[in-house]
Amino acid sequence: MKITLPPARAVGGRNSPAPPRTTLGVHVEPDFAAMSRLGAAAVVSSLAQFGDGGGRRLNVVFSAGRTPTCVYDLLATEFCGEFDWSRISLFQMDEYVDASVAHESFSRYLTRMVVEPLHLSDVHLLPPELAGMGDESWSAAIRDHERKLLERGGIDLAIHGIGVNGHLGFNEPGSAPTSLGRIVQLSGSTRAAISPGPPPTRGVTVGLATLLAARESIMLASGSSKAPAIAAALEGAVSADCPASWLRIGSKTTVIIDRAAAGELRGSRRE
Ligand code: GLP
Repeated sequence: MKITLPPARAVGGRNSPAPPRTTLGVHVEPDFAAMSRLGAAAVVSSLAQFGDGGGRRLNVVFSAGRTPTCVYDLLATEFCGEFDWSRISLFQMDEYVDASVAHESFSRYLTRMVVEPLHLSDVHLLPPELAGMGDESWSAAIRDHERKLLERGGIDLAIHGIGVNGHLGFNEPGSAPTSLGRIVQLSGSTRAAISPGPPPTRGVTVGLATLLAARESIMLASGSSKAPAIAAALEGAVSADCPASWLRIGSKTTVIIDRAAAGELRGSRRE
C-alpha cells in the first residue's frame, strides 16, 4: 500500500542561537495508528529516493522502544513489497548495558521486529554476549560498531524515537553534538520511563556526531508524555539540554508525531 506524504510544515528553529542549516518537515497525525502508518510510508519513500545507491547497500540505523513498534510491523506486512529490503544494512542505535532479565535487549527487539520479518542478511547488532561483560568490552563494541558504520559510508537513514527528556538514541541531555559512541549513564527520567522491573542504569549509544550526519532522519513520537520533549526539540533552543533539538541543524529530518505528542507546540504547528 502506498501513502504519499502530505506537505510538511517547515520548522526553522526560530529560537536557535544560529540560523539553521536545514529545516524539518513536521507532520502531526491524529493518533498512534496514523502516525505509524505515515512513519512506515516515510521510511519507504526516504529509502526509495536514494535510487540504486550507487550499487551499495543503504545503511539504516534503527531505534528500539515502544514508539516504532507499529511502524516496524507495517514495514514487515503492508509495506513489505514496497522496497527491496535486501538492499539495506541494519545497524542498531543503542542498547542497555545492565538490563535485568525483565527487559528485552534492543538487539533482541530488532531481531524480532525487523531482522526476521524483513529477512535481512546484513545485520549489525551489538552481540548479546556483551551482557554481563565489563565496561571495556562494551566500550570496544560500541566503538567498533560505529567505526564499521562510518567505514561503510555513514548513515543513510536514521529512524528515531525521542526520550521524555529529549534524548536521541541514549544521548542524554548534556551530550555534545560531537559525541561518539560510548557508555552513558541513564538519567532519572529515562530510567523512570523503562518498565517493568528495576530499570537499567547505563546504556551504550551511537554518538550524536554520527547520528546527526545521517543523510536522512525520521523522528517519531506519540503520547502526551513526549509533548514537552517535542516542544523543546522543535521550538526550544538548539542546545545540549535537548539532544533532539540538534536535528534542526543536522540531517534532513522528517518529524512524524501524533496530536498528543504535539500538545505543547505553539501556534500553527499544533493541529
Ligand atoms: C529509548 C531509546 C531510544 C528511543 C527512546 C524512546 O530508551 N534509548 O532509542 O527512541 O528511548 O523510547 P520509547 O519509544 O519506548 O518511548
